[in-house]
Amino acid sequence: SSVSRPRSAENRQIVPSAGQIRASTFKVAILGAAGGIGQPLSLLIKMSPLISGLHLYDIANVKGVAADLSHCNTPAQILDFTGPAELANSLKDVDVVVIPAGVPRKPGMTRDDLFNINAGIVRTLVEAVADNSPNAFIQIISNPVNSTVPIAAEVLKKKGVYDPKKLFGVTTLDVVRANTFVAQKKNLRLIDVDVPVVGGHAGITILPLLSKTKPSVTFTQDEIEQLTIRIQNAGTEVVEAKAGAGSATLSMAYAAARFVESSLRALDGDPDVYECSYIQSELTELPFFASRIKLGKKGVEAVIASDLEGLTEYEQKSLEALKPELKASIEKGIAFANK
Ligand code: NAI
Repeated sequence: SSVSRPRSAENRQIVPSAGQIRASTFKVAILGAAGGIGQPLSLLIKMSPLISGLHLYDIANVKGVAADLSHCNTPAQILDFTGPAELANSLKDVDVVVIPAGVPRKPGMTRDDLFNINAGIVRTLVEAVADNSPNAFIQIISNPVNSTVPIAAEVLKKKGVYDPKKLFGVTTLDVVRANTFVAQKKNLRLIDVDVPVVGGHAGITILPLLSKTKPSVTFTQDEIEQLTIRIQNAGTEVVEAKAGAGSATLSMAYAAARFVESSLRALDGDPDVYECSYIQSELTELPFFASRIKLGKKGVEAVIASDLEGLTEYEQKSLEALKPELKASIEKGIAFANK
């Protein structure tokens, strides 16, 4: 159905070039659409030629966002839904549900400090997804992702509709950051650079596999340590720069739009779609783990296990070091969902 599509994982684009003609057939719901991430994410998704309907849900302020976006002359029809009474309808007939609802960090906070508020929000929203769009791809942005994805899995299990191939923690921003920082440091063309990032999405659980960077690059040990720490703390860099006004929203929206667009390309039958994501996994002894995956019509089609083979000593040590923290975050999420 497409005239030309980018072939490699590194060479993808969000905005289609003129001449790309595709049927716009998919529907996407964004839960938390009026927020700092939700608004620019809605705008970027509105630009996708693959979308026929964009459902914007929030507990407040969504009407204005929807009216505004609806004037863009791209195919996606915008519908707005406000408050719990309209949540179910926002989820009817959608192919992808993206969840950026919840509170963001302020300076001095870790992602885990958000747990008490966001865990409940994610549970409620995913219950509604289970009831109204059980076959949709579910993409969780709300932090702490390391715990909110296991919460979502438990909720879906209780509802009898859990498909581990269709539940994703959005870690694309870690890849986007790694690509940007590596390209800057090594003077590479940004479009060429692709760094797999594995583990989880908080602090030391974010593990960029710099030895697997494409194109192949050599780093000094100093460079590896500096880049790894910068990628792990990049979110905090933004939180501190915003000084109380929130965390990453624009780069996050960009990253999530890329993940959504990749998912839609996969649903549309593109056989060559790869992204990193935090999913139920057998790659390590941990039940959830972020890694590169191949996306297909039914969700996760394959896990790229070879990324964890032949790691450097530094990467291997970092991998072992992140496991206890990630394990604790997973268990915290599961315990919350079952209490
Ligand atoms: P924000 O506060 O600007 O927006 C959150 C939105 O969620 C608001 O519009 C609010 O009304 C809405 N909301 C709250 N409770 C809701 C509910 N029960 N149902 C529906 N909507 C609800 O926050 P921002 O900056 O957009 O961040 C959102 C989340 O994304 C935070 O948890 C943040 O930590 C996370 N985040 C995740 C990243 C990732 O890489 N996965 C990166 C950056 C942020």
